[in-house]
Amino acid sequence: MKSIVLLISLLAVISCAQAQQTDLIANTDGRKTISLDGEWRTIIDPYETGYYDYRYQPSSDGYFKDAKPKTKSDLIEYDFDTSESLKVPGDWNTQQERLLFYEGTIWYKKAFDYQRKENTRLFVYFGAANYIADVYLNGEKLGRHEGGFTPFNFEITKLVRDTGNSLIVKVDNKRRRDAVPTLITDWWNYGGLTRQVKLVETPATFVQDYFIQLQKGSRERISGWVKLNGSKLDQKVTVRIPEARISKSFTTDANGSAQITFDAALTLWSPDNPKLYDVVIEAETDQVQDEIGFRTIETRGTEILLNGRPIFLRGVCIHEEAPFRGGRAYSREDALTLLTWAKELGVNFVRLAHYPHNEFMLREADRLGIMVWSEIPVYWTILWENSATLENAQNQLREMITRDQNRAAVIIWSMANETPLSNARLSFLKKLIDHARSLDNSRLISAAMERHYLNDTTTQMIDDPLGEYVDVFGCNEYVGWYDGLPEKADRVEWKMNYQKPLIMTEFGAEAPYGNHGDPLTRWTEEYQENAYQHQVSMLKRIPFLRGTCPWILMDFRSPRRPLPGIQDFHNRKGLISDRGEKKKAFFVMQRYYQEIRGALPK
Ligand code: GCU
Repeated sequence: MKSIVLLISLLAVISCAQAQQTDLIANTDGRKTISLDGEWRTIIDPYETGYYDYRYQPSSDGYFKDAKPKTKSDLIEYDFDTSESLKVPGDWNTQQERLLFYEGTIWYKKAFDYQRKENTRLFVYFGAANYIADVYLNGEKLGRHEGGFTPFNFEITKLVRDTGNSLIVKVDNKRRRDAVPTLITDWWNYGGLTRQVKLVETPATFVQDYFIQLQKGSRERISGWVKLNGSKLDQKVTVRIPEARISKSFTTDANGSAQITFDAALTLWSPDNPKLYDVVIEAETDQVQDEIGFRTIETRGTEILLNGRPIFLRGVCIHEEAPFRGGRAYSREDALTLLTWAKELGVNFVRLAHYPHNEFMLREADRLGIMVWSEIPVYWTILWENSATLENAQNQLREMITRDQNRAAVIIWSMANETPLSNARLSFLKKLIDHARSLDNSRLISAAMERHYLNDTTTQMIDDPLGEYVDVFGCNEYVGWYDGLPEKADRVEWKMNYQKPLIMTEFGAEAPYGNHGDPLTRWTEEYQENAYQHQVSMLKRIPFLRGTCPWILMDFRSPRRPLPGIQDFHNRKGLISDRGEKKKAFFVMQRYYQEIRGALPK
């Protein structure tokens, strides 16, 4: 009997702790927040001494206790407050030379005071932490988050003190075979608290999440939902769009959810007119404001239709690498610099590779009128048969969609990049597609998929079985770089087994800025320019092509690129160097985009 009572109370404690990782809070910008950015005390812990005991068992007395010697004889072998600090947000690799290649655990501590007001709740919100974050407050475990590119939050209402709070995060960016992404990527495994950390204060019952977009296929009917979180779940909620004199009220059910639908004559969002409306979601106990654009995106055969009209996606791929300083980009300025360069190239579309970028990128794309392909890092050879890997990928997908579902700029959710054909892969990706459609059926689904040469070695065949389940095809090809010399593109024809639009999601060649030579000398700007010239003429010959995304806007750091004096651990396929210098190939693409602007290929 005694053991059963003990077991029940133990389960209660566990469920209480786990319960503190609430669902994601949407739109923290529209709420009362306190930034925890700045210097955080850190302990570099390659052997995870602060987490495991010498028997490699999780220790109950780890660094998360933030312990201090109470007497002169006490033995405490760490001290956050005399340890060095790192900046947050920011990857650790570019903050200290000795951490550039570091993959392992670093502990972060932030002390803060906070006077909680009556009838309010408090959450700690992370924009992202690469890769696994174990989070503690005042020695109590809040929970764990896996995935380096999506936000997460924990409720700390019951644990927070007026003064001397100790928030501790163990961040581990070790690569693992069963992780997402898995062991090998062509981007730097930047570790740390790479995006903003903030406290989010809410009323006892608050508007936790909402989805307010035009109904699929309709340009005058809004359909979506609002979700409350708290004790008073049956409330009247009103959605207001003041500029359009719209105010519609609904009642939430016992779970705090309300489906919302109403007619609205609105100016539609588009690259030429990125119209955003102030939208207010008002409940009896809370109010949130957001800036939302309204547009429809569909396909019809090989056409992509924005607001019912065919478009061509003049795109470029972007990694979340900071211009000039290098490292993981995280700020509004970083986003504006990258998107402004993309605009100079003539784009109306960007492929954010290969993982969800920070929220500033999406909100600036909304404001600048740049359509977005957003992707989860199901990259190359994921462990398709591993159920935990699938769950992890689904969770990253859910968090990506939850954060950006109200961004008009996002038109495509991408499930994967360059994943080898197999039945296990197909069923894994089909499950992801079903999950994405269950969360948001208003956008297009895609992936960067496989293609192969027919026996004649000049006909590229697109017949990836995944094609049946996506709305738009994405394909990467490197004719003229990994595949022959630039002029080979003149002989390559493209065939596809599906009546669907194709986006060429990657193509390009590599050259460090300022390296010059003749058009057939690898690594020169002239070779890169030559490759692009032949690429453009090949692309123009593909009848079902509805978008192009050269790889890549800016050079980026990669552990797979050691060539001294040329790559120096950078992938130099940028059209722009990491110091903002435009290479000759940049102007080939700029001319092509000027030429096709407004004109759809016949
Ligand atoms: C691949 C891959 C990219 C990589 C690029 C390259 O297609 O998707 O992540 O950086 O090719 O080789 O440069």
